[in-house]
Amino acid sequence: MHQVAIFASGAGSNAARIIDRFRRHPSIKISLIVCNKPDAGVLEIAAKEHIPSLIIEKEQFFRGDAYVAELQRRNISFIVLAGFLWKVPSKLIQAYSGRIINIHPALLPKYGGKGFYGRLVHEAVIAAKEKESGITIHYVDELYDHGQIIFQAGCLIEPNDTPDTLAQKIHGLEHEHFPRVIEELLTSPGPGSSKDR
Ligand code: GAR
Repeated sequence: MHQVAIFASGAGSNAARIIDRFRRHPSIKISLIVCNKPDAGVLEIAAKEHIPSLIIEKEQFFRGDAYVAELQRRNISFIVLAGFLWKVPSKLIQAYSGRIINIHPALLPKYGGKGFYGRLVHEAVIAAKEKESGITIHYVDELYDHGQIIFQAGCLIEPNDTPDTLAQKIHGLEHEHFPRVIEELLTSPGPGSSKDR
């Protein structure tokens, strides 16, 4: 059984779709929600779904063991970042090498890196009068929004689109593809599917 931790700091609409997809899955279980904001919407979703949650603190995440021992104690084998905005420290990346993925609300390498998250991405894309944006699902490495790309999907931007209407289109793409891509990764041979490393 793959025991997955979802790291999220926001409303948690992606987390909700992922939880829904794997509720009765034979080999994938969403075992933990990890969050750095005690008032984040995702924590209500976790409570409603009876999924344990872990609120993390800066000091231990960046200057301690990055919660590696806690994640291992809970037998977490795979980590999904779904709207998690802190940079992942190398201790955690090394402990879960090839087993951490992120979703980014743009077509990387465009509009990625420090400072590009959530609505700020959509504002920058609209301000630059781009004709297209989209989503990127990628492995996490030690640089922001940099690891190997697993999947991308695009959407067209109309002249009357705003950051809000673009955000809606992007969320639609995320909800459509993210749960499915996670399932494909964890049920086909490859780096993510090896749970015993
Ligand atoms: C998502 O659009 C995700 O791509 C983005 O945060 C949003 C979270 O929404 N992530 C980043 O910007 C990471 N750099 P949600 O809380 O409704 O799932």
